[in-house]
Amino acid sequence: MALVRADGFETATLDGGPTAKTPSTINFTSEAFDKGEYAHFMRKEIAEQPEAVGRTLSGRLEPRFQTTHLGGIELAAHELLDIRRVKILGCGSAYIAGCIGAHLIEQLARLPAHAEPASEFRYRNPVIERDTLYLAVSQSGETFDTLAAVQEVKRKGGRVLGIVNVVGSTIARECGRGIYLHAGPEIAVVSTKTFTCTAVALALLAIQLGRIRDLSTADGGRLLAGLAALPEQIDGIVAREPEIARLAEQLVACEHAYFVGRSAGYAVAMEGALKLKEVSYLHAEAYSAAELKHGPLALISPETPTVVVIPRDDLYQKNISTIAEIRARRGPVVAVTHAGEMPAPVDAMFDVPASEPEFDPILLNIPLQLLAYHVALKKGCDIDKPRNLAKSVTVE
Ligand code: AGP
Repeated sequence: MALVRADGFETATLDGGPTAKTPSTINFTSEAFDKGEYAHFMRKEIAEQPEAVGRTLSGRLEPRFQTTHLGGIELAAHELLDIRRVKILGCGSAYIAGCIGAHLIEQLARLPAHAEPASEFRYRNPVIERDTLYLAVSQSGETFDTLAAVQEVKRKGGRVLGIVNVVGSTIARECGRGIYLHAGPEIAVVSTKTFTCTAVALALLAIQLGRIRDLSTADGGRLLAGLAALPEQIDGIVAREPEIARLAEQLVACEHAYFVGRSAGYAVAMEGALKLKEVSYLHAEAYSAAELKHGPLALISPETPTVVVIPRDDLYQKNISTIAEIRARRGPVVAVTHAGEMPAPVDAMFDVPASEPEFDPILLNIPLQLLAYHVALKKGCDIDKPRNLAKSVTVE
């Protein structure tokens, strides 16, 4: 309990026993808690992403050695070198951002990396390994399942770092070290800017882990430049909102939608589907594009559009084949991809600028946030407070 007066404060336990707390200053302005010119916090927080990403990156790029430096992880280079595996734990969007991070760590540091919902991990009597680095990802730092997973790792002697937005939150304190996102307050129940900042923080870690292994200086420099370009690129995507509002018309009248992608693009599809479900109550299901033919193709019809996430990567042609499979069943296709000619006909398309391929998932996700927002807007949903949901899930 806290009693705050203009000239001071007192804190106590619920029984009234006085407690001693040390004040710490958090650098937020009151505008951070105000919608300002925006109709919804979700929309404001989407627009804030360029600045938020800038803060996640701030002071963490080390061009001299073409690497990154994350002081808060408090691990020396030799300790980072001893890591043999990375396990990322979180819930909802935090877990999905972890999937993007795991992919980056595996690609850049060539370490086996895997993300798992914290809620599953904590209950399956997990094997904890001494040379695994565990990462707990949470915007609020208060999600009960993620906290319980951290405690389980610690109880069994594992090493866990927090990747958290809220400074001084329970998970941040329980981990004791890690990476703060510095995304600023996120008020909307749905996570947008902290999803992006989490993926960026994990990219920073992937580069640091990679550069003390086999990632070359040339690749390090290329990736640093790619990260530094992200804020402006995100800004450019958000500025094209009217195009995305038109795309939303493809989805607003339907009851079901698929989101598909491959590899890291699959994680983008998962996040796009989650966002759409949360704010518009439309039934959206994410599927790995390659798995479509093993069952879900049966549900493709003219009434069920599919959003296909198509980075211009090694799997580009395979994604084009997926489009053909869907259209052969008369399913409408909305493609989210990069600029350039699409070698397959689609019903609607949005292109994002080219970045370093490793950061494609970060950019390809931005239009999907705005897509969910505009579908919800057209359906008149309570965007900032979707039914049945809370910002932090502090219960089991
Ligand atoms: C995101 O849009 C959701 N509201 C939800 O999945 C959220 O990401 C999840 O509950 C985890 O929250 P946390 O990041 O605060 O731990």
